[in-house]
Order: sequence, then structure tokens, then C-alpha cells
Amino acid sequence: MDTAPSSATDAFDPLDPEAPGYRSGLAGLRAHDPVSRCPSGAWFLARFDDCLAASKAVHTFNASFREPGVVVPDEEQFVNEIPEPRHGHVRRIINSAIAQHRIGRVEPVARDLCGTLLDDLLATGGGDLVARYSVPIPTTVIGHLLGAPVADHRQWAEWSDEVVQGTYPTRYRNERGTGLEGAHPEFTAYVDEQIRVRRDAADPPDDFITRLLATEVDGRRLTDVEARTQLVFLFISGNETTRHLISNLCYVLASQPDVFAACRSDRGLVDNLVEETLRTMSPIQFLMRTCTADTEVAGVAVSRDDKVAFGVASANRDETHFPDPDAFRLDRPDPRSHFAFGGGPHVCPGSALARLEARVAMDVLFDRVGGMTLDPDYVFTKVPVFWAYGPAELPVSLTAA
Ligand code: HEM
Repeated sequence: MDTAPSSATDAFDPLDPEAPGYRSGLAGLRAHDPVSRCPSGAWFLARFDDCLAASKAVHTFNASFREPGVVVPDEEQFVNEIPEPRHGHVRRIINSAIAQHRIGRVEPVARDLCGTLLDDLLATGGGDLVARYSVPIPTTVIGHLLGAPVADHRQWAEWSDEVVQGTYPTRYRNERGTGLEGAHPEFTAYVDEQIRVRRDAADPPDDFITRLLATEVDGRRLTDVEARTQLVFLFISGNETTRHLISNLCYVLASQPDVFAACRSDRGLVDNLVEETLRTMSPIQFLMRTCTADTEVAGVAVSRDDKVAFGVASANRDETHFPDPDAFRLDRPDPRSHFAFGGGPHVCPGSALARLEARVAMDVLFDRVGGMTLDPDYVFTKVPVFWAYGPAELPVSLTAA
């Protein structure tokens, strides 16, 4: 077994998507060094098969964005970092609350919203699609599903950004205090109030928060602290990632006029547009794990307590799974076979919702917009969150259909 730190990574950091030559660097790792050490000391899995297998090996690789040694009380662990078998329990409660048949109900809300946002953008001849299109869509949709008052959606989104961009997700005790409550007191107080109102109501509203509180699995319901923790996580995960997917879709359309024209004239291509964008511009670039036991990946020894990054973006360009992986193709035979939503027991439970929002956002855009041009001086700059991929802004000119 090879335990020596790899020389290939001395000059290349696979956890820095803005590094020069990043894409060819990942291709080099897939070919020659599929389990490599990053400059930070974490292992990096570059190949699709290794990422998928490791995502299923939940007893060996425990999901965690936390720094080594950070201990989080059980009730305050986000669903993605809860070890089995407790994860399975919380996950079943979440699955039942966001069941597929309930998600379809949100489509008319999303459609109306997209129409209004595009009318406003067309009235000014265009503008920043991130701020004025991609941000409001998932914020409103997830807020609507959860049952938060519409007037508060923007506030939720700001709090969610604060958590993602702050140090709480990697620590537990940060410069503002202990736990989520110490680090983000306004957000937690707001969510606690939403929980209290539903607990006290004789006839609570039929929304996600009520269902999360009421759903019983194996004779147990979530405590108030568990419910708060998962609600905050759901708001963040439903918001941040889908925003980047919609922004990335808009970037593809604005930078590839042939793709815009093809999908606009054949709406049957929209699903493939969404999948190919998820594959080539994955909103989550890495999934972080902590190794719970000594193990081996592709012949390389990985030790207990080591940090391991699953290279989502690299897996999605693995040439053994996707012929001509750097080409953006609307005719891939199995367009959903990418790793953008992860795999194994933690696979994204919000993928149907994300796909619905993306499809509606594109469909309404093709109805209303006849042409889309990027600002001539535009340079794609990614958002400042290391694991996330989406443009910070996207200034475009738009013409009406
Ligand atoms: C384009 C949009 C999205 C992308 C790319 C995405 C991606 C992912 C990925 C890769 C994971 C696996 C995490 C891991 O293995 O550590 C995940 C988990 C999760 N996602 Fe999503 N997601 C998206 C949208 C959503 C939405 C809309 C929701 C909310 C309804 C959501 C809720 C969650 C939750 C709760 C988990 C944790 C599941 C668990 O650990 O069992 N996601 N997501």
C-alpha cells in the first residue's frame, strides 16, 4: 500500500477550483494519483467509482465539514453529519416531510414567481441574474414549502448566507458563541418561534415545519432542538445549492448561444440541459468526510481521523463514465448518472425539488426571453464559499421573446 504523500499534489490543490489549470490538474489525478493528499492534509478522491463507493461506506466515512476534533452534541448535528443508525431515523422523518407528491404543489408558485422576476428584468433591459433571478427562486420556494411567512423569506436567505459564509459549520464554538444558537441567535430564535407557534396551535398549518414536528418514526419524534437544527439545515441546503444551479444554467445559456437556441426551440431538451449543467458545473464541488477506522481506497492506506474529500466535480468529469467529459452535450445517453447529488444513504433528498425549480426557471425564461448577452467585460468569479460553485454575479442584457 502507498501511504506516502503524493508529489503530484505538492503544486496543485484539488480543493481550490480557482487554481490555474484546475481541470487538467484533476484529469492528471484521475489518471495517475486517484487518492492523493491535498496541501491541507485531507485525502482527495478523484475518480467517480471511488467517490460513489466511499459515499456508500457510511460506517467508515462520516460526513463532516467540521475541523478535526470538533464534537457536536447529538441534537445539534445537521442530518448530513449524524452517524448511523441515528441518521436513518432523522432521514426518514425528513423524507416523509418532503415527499415527492407534496413538492409538485409548489410548481405554480415557482412559475408565477419566475414570470414576475423576468418581467422586472426585461423592463430594465437585463441586470444581474444572480441577484434578481437565481437568489429569489429557491429562497421563495423553500420558504413556501417550509411554511415561513412570505415577508420573511429574504431575511431567512440572509441568515442562511451568514451561516454558510461563517465559521459555525466548521467549528461548533466560534467567535460569536457556542452552538448554532450562540453563533446565529436571530436565526435560531426565529425558527424556535415557528416551532412554538405550531406546537401551541390546535390546528397547525399543513406545512413542512408541522410535518417535521409531527412525524413519528419507530415511536420517536424530533425534539425541538433537533427540529430547529434540521430546519436551519434544510433552509440552507435548499437555498444555496439550487441558487448556484440556476445561476450556472443562466451562465451556460448566456455563454453558449447554440445551447440557448436549441433548448428554446425544443423544450424536451431542458431536462438534459439541467443534468449536463449539474455535471459540468456541480454546485457542490466536494463532500467532506472524517474517517472512522483505518481503511484503504484504491490501494492507498487511509487512517482513522483522516479527513477525506470526495471530488464531486472531478467524478463528474471522469472519462471512464462520461466520454468526452469536458464537452457540454445535450444528448448524453444517461444524463442523470452524475454525482452532483451525491450517493449512498446521504444522497440528496431535495434533488426532485431542485430539478423542478431549475426546469421551471428555464421554461419560463425560454417563454419570455428571446435573447441573452453577457456583459462584454464579464469575468466569471465564483462565490467565496470553498465547496460551492456558482457565479457571484451574472450581468446580462435581455431582449423579450
Ligand atoms: C442543485 C441543488 C442541490 C444540490 C447540487 C444538492 C447536493 C447535495 C449533495 C451532494 C448531498 C450529499 C451530501 C453528503 O453526502 O454529504 C446533499 C444532501 C442533502 N441535501 Fe441537497 N442538493 C441540492 C438541493 C437540495 C434541496 C432543494 C434540498 C431541500 C429540500 C436539499 C436538502 C439536502 C439535505 C437535507 C441533505 C442531507 C441528506 C443526508 O445527509 O441524509 N438539497 N445535497
